[in-house]
Amino acid sequence: MPMNLPPNSMKRLFIISNRLPIQLVRQESTVQLLESAGGLATALKSYLQAQDRSSFEPDEVVWVGNADFSRELWEEFQQSKRSTGTFKIEPLWLDDDVNDGFYNGLSNSTIWPLFHYFPSFAEFKEPNWQAYQQANTVFADRLAELYQPDDVLWVQDYHLMLLPAMLRERCPEATIGFFLHIPFPSFEVYRMLPNRWREGLLQGMLGADLIGFHTNDYVQHFEKSVQRLLGIESKLRFVQIPNRPVRVDLFPISIDYERFNSSYRLPGVMAEREAIHQQLQGNKLLFSVDRLDYTKGVLNRLQGYEKFLENHPEWHGKINFVMVVVPSRSEITSYGERKQMIEENIGRINGRFATVSWQPLVYQYRSLSFEQLCAYYTACDVALITPIRDGMNLVAKEFIASRQDEQGVLILSEVAGAAAELGEALLINPTDRVGMALAIEEALSMPVKTQAERIKRMQTRIREYDVVQWADDFLTQLFNAKAQQNQWEVR
Ligand code: F6P
Repeated sequence: MPMNLPPNSMKRLFIISNRLPIQLVRQESTVQLLESAGGLATALKSYLQAQDRSSFEPDEVVWVGNADFSRELWEEFQQSKRSTGTFKIEPLWLDDDVNDGFYNGLSNSTIWPLFHYFPSFAEFKEPNWQAYQQANTVFADRLAELYQPDDVLWVQDYHLMLLPAMLRERCPEATIGFFLHIPFPSFEVYRMLPNRWREGLLQGMLGADLIGFHTNDYVQHFEKSVQRLLGIESKLRFVQIPNRPVRVDLFPISIDYERFNSSYRLPGVMAEREAIHQQLQGNKLLFSVDRLDYTKGVLNRLQGYEKFLENHPEWHGKINFVMVVVPSRSEITSYGERKQMIEENIGRINGRFATVSWQPLVYQYRSLSFEQLCAYYTACDVALITPIRDGMNLVAKEFIASRQDEQGVLILSEVAGAAAELGEALLINPTDRVGMALAIEEALSMPVKTQAERIKRMQTRIREYDVVQWADDFLTQLFNAKAQQNQWEVR
């Protein structure tokens, strides 16, 4: 019978994800360490960096992930005795063809489009399913070698949905959590997967003791899929699998609120903001930033802005829209095509409305530094975040947190997970371009007092459930779930 662990007695915490929080690149004769971008890596890294605020004190944190650098670079980096921060990194290397079928294939050309309600983009290729199983097995085998009693294994995201069950097989007593960072779709969409895959993925996740999602809808969709496809009922958020009920619950992921809020007065951010204001010469600023992804609704956003310009000639010459698109998953055809479509539309809209002295759209295809990002968040009048589907969307939370001046308006898609917590934003349907144009007009004319009231309410919510609360909440529930299972076994 496994012992009930009191919350602080975790020996080591393993964070397990496809993407590691660091990248290594060679620059001239040295190996440079770069931070990885993206919600998962940023959120978990923020948590680990703010661990003095956490109620958990593992002896060690180990981050296991799929390296996108070579073994040689890693060895060279280790020899240089430089640190990776407050946690240890344990990279894995997959064979190239396995990695391709796993990452570009099943993860990002099947699960990603389907779970974001783009079934027509989903491919169902058997070799990719095999590569996905192989990649998850590589993780499971390595973790089984590393695992010791009282370690906690926290598996992250859609790349590793088979891993919890593989770990349960190898380490039956282990405390295993799984968190899904993307939406879990409705049963009618989920069932579109081939039978063995859809059942395999559910069985895989049910190897965990606790399965976390961003929203209540995703929890319910998961429970319904388990019930319809595996015939297993849930009661009071426990999936009743034989011998070991599995807890499912919602944990809306968040950000390091203080880091974004205090950025307002960083000298670098102040200088950048001042430079942006000078360039604007009194114009209003609309801002957006997303990874290049068809789920982010960039084309719909462009259409909404075009409608606004069409309906409001009085705003011509008085508004600029800075749209930052961060390169992502460029080896996948649907991503490359999207880039071309975005750029064509930007060219068309600028061609339609621009004058010698005014360009309505400024497009940047690159990533921004933290200071540049915060400068745009705090210089803009309106943040326009319009995904067609998004698990959470941390940009929305970052924008709100960074507004120490309590000014600015958030226009947010109603189908971003964040909309469930940010009801004071102007919520829009991303396919409704007329509605989006009206929301832009409403945002631009919103009195500053109303802006402040709305921002303050959203800030309070994000501050109270920041990324440390999110992770602590998950880990606490994980220990509770384990304890409840043990009581259940005694009965
Ligand atoms: O939303 C899922 C997610 O893993 C995010 O955490 C992250 O922003 C994004 O996808 C990154 O994707 P990739 O690892 O493919 O660059």
